[in-house]
Amino acid sequence: MEFRHLGRSGLMVSEISYGNWITHGSQVEEDAAFACVRAALDAGITTFDTADVYAGTRAEDVLGRALQGERREGLEIFTKVYWPTGPGRNDRGLSRKHIMESINGSLRRLRTDYVDLYQAHRYDYSTPLEETMEAFADVVHSGKAHYIGVSEWKASQIREAHGLARELRIPLVSNQPQYSMLWRVIETEVVPTSEELGVGQIVWSPMAQGVLSGKYLPGQPPPAGSRATDEKSGAGFIAQWLTDDVLTRVQRLKPLAEQAGLSMAQLAIAWVLQNPNVSSAIVGASRPEQVHDNVKAAGVKLDADLLKAIDEIVEPITERDPSRTESPAQRP
Ligand SMILES: NC(=O)c1ccc[n+]([C@@H]2O[C@H](COP(=O)([O-])OP(=O)(O)OC[C@H]3O[C@@H](n4cnc5c(N)ncnc54)[C@H](OP(=O)(O)O)[C@@H]3O)[C@@H](O)[C@H]2O)c1
Repeated sequence: MEFRHLGRSGLMVSEISYGNWITHGSQVEEDAAFACVRAALDAGITTFDTADVYAGTRAEDVLGRALQGERREGLEIFTKVYWPTGPGRNDRGLSRKHIMESINGSLRRLRTDYVDLYQAHRYDYSTPLEETMEAFADVVHSGKAHYIGVSEWKASQIREAHGLARELRIPLVSNQPQYSMLWRVIETEVVPTSEELGVGQIVWSPMAQGVLSGKYLPGQPPPAGSRATDEKSGAGFIAQWLTDDVLTRVQRLKPLAEQAGLSMAQLAIAWVLQNPNVSSAIVGASRPEQVHDNVKAAGVKLDADLLKAIDEIVEPITERDPSRTESPAQRP
């Protein structure tokens, strides 16, 4: 494994992080979840990402149990707050009440006294940013989180929050956006602003939820046991990528991966890591063999000709519009 600083902070994270959205407490049985976490630890992954909302709070509980007995100082545990965790109108958003309540629930389920990074899972237009940042400051100053991050925030929102964080003497060090060969909306605004402020990207769905592994074939049913067959939740999220146009172009990447001596999954993960503003790629897995495959993307350098050849293939199916960095206009 290779390691990078999280933004301009002193915190080191593994280039590849393990994330448990859709899988833990939902798509995969508990023994598979534990086996994936074991495989991640054995491969040198030290950074684990979850959220209060995943699998209706069960994902944090599974991860907390899977990591029990590990040396806490050897791990970076990240979680998030914003999406609904209960039926009440205050069980969501970034109000002081919900942040203070949700951090306690997360720490209880994760079986730890602190998280390394506490992230605002979206921007909350119904709460004054000052209220949110003051609540985050109290979370940090009480020792429940070491660093603060955001997720899917626009460049202007990151800038404003970063200014407040400095006044409040708390470190806002990261943003968590979607980023892959197919989704490059952060490149024109979020990345330059983040570079200037010392904020690093911890990017999600670097494989476009498995699509860039090349296992979904145009005109064919999805492979058994894949996310696209998970009717509980996964299938709904991955559906946007399962068009013939996308799948046909993705297949055209196969010879490039072979020439580079990489699997398709490794090529996709290595691709996001070529961006120096990316601190870590958060990769999901439903079985340990995928973790073994994916971790080999750490430290891989892709040459300029290969990057150009990739661009030529995916350009027509790549989203680059910065206005696609969005948070709900109303609290969910
Ligand atoms: N901040 C946010 O709003 C946000 C949103 C989404 C995700 N995230 C974070 O990002 C993490 C990763 O997201 P993601 O799971 O969508 O990422 P991803 O790495 O793009 O996709 C992971 C999925 O692809 C399949 N896969 C993984 N490795 C494979 C391989 N080597 N060969 C073939 N298939 C493979 C697996 O699904 P199957 O085996 O089931 O097909 C796996 O669950 C999440 O766990 C979460 O921590 C954050």
